[in-house]
Amino acid sequence: MESDIQAIANCIKNGKATRIVVLTGAGISTGAGIPDFRSPDTGLYDKLAPLRLPHPEAVFHINYFSHTPEPFYAIARARHPGNLKPTLTHAFLALLAKKNLLHFLFTQNIDGLEQDAGVPKEKLLYTHGNWKSQHCYKCKSHYPDDLMNKAIRAGEVPYCLENGCGGAIKPDIVFFGQPLPAEFEEKEKEVLEADLMLVMGTSLRVAPCSRLPRLVNRGVPRVLINNERAGDLGNRDEDVCLLGTCDDVVRRLAGAVGWADELEDLWQES
Ligand code: APR
Repeated sequence: MESDIQAIANCIKNGKATRIVVLTGAGISTGAGIPDFRSPDTGLYDKLAPLRLPHPEAVFHINYFSHTPEPFYAIARARHPGNLKPTLTHAFLALLAKKNLLHFLFTQNIDGLEQDAGVPKEKLLYTHGNWKSQHCYKCKSHYPDDLMNKAIRAGEVPYCLENGCGGAIKPDIVFFGQPLPAEFEEKEKEVLEADLMLVMGTSLRVAPCSRLPRLVNRGVPRVLINNERAGDLGNRDEDVCLLGTCDDVVRRLAGAVGWADELEDLWQES
């Protein structure tokens, strides 16, 4: 792996990678204490059996939420960032942005830790929304943050305060069965500009994000940083698969580029 890491580090050091596009998933936040979805035993979906759902992903399906929001709020606390600290991997993404090397970041995560680490809002798209706001599922009226945080901590369903509505409050995250943010189609084109793509902490099991790595032009290195293989990464000659924990691989990659101290300092500040 060291030669692969050195090869990618050289791309960055020699100025060959200046428009880095990144796709992140739940695996970059497990180090912050937020379980991912599909890792065996530790992933969220393996832990939902007691809720007796028709299938694990129903907890995030809009049709199921519309009549039974309780399971979502039973697990919301485990997914909500609360006051969690970003990981070294989140700090690495902020460092790429600080060095004007981050062309664009697509995150599937709703925890907002990339932005908390310092990635500028204009450099990222929350493809699956985030926890930063919430509205009534029925009348769409906004719901106060403090009441939402109280409900999440208690694991209870918050209901709309508007007269006679009574609708369940839903955070502005994208449930299965809902469209992605309109910007996704427009931002997808940024992948074609990439001279390096990093795919980090994702199983690439959910479209349309899972299709983004395939849009990368041939000849452009696609680097998977993940505990396991994912998607078609590794099928192209120029692909590099750095299998391991994100924080460990990122620490070694930053070290090879000569950014070890800068990354640690940025992470400590986050
Ligand atoms: N370091 C490296 N890889 C990790 C780490 C880690 N610390 N922790 C987990 N992983 C890997 C897992 O092995 C897995 O391949 O990250 C991947 C996480 O995959 P999923 O749990 O499927 O999460 P993700 O790909 O983000 O899911 C996509 O599915 O349920 C929906 O909307 C939800 O956004 C989510 C989407």
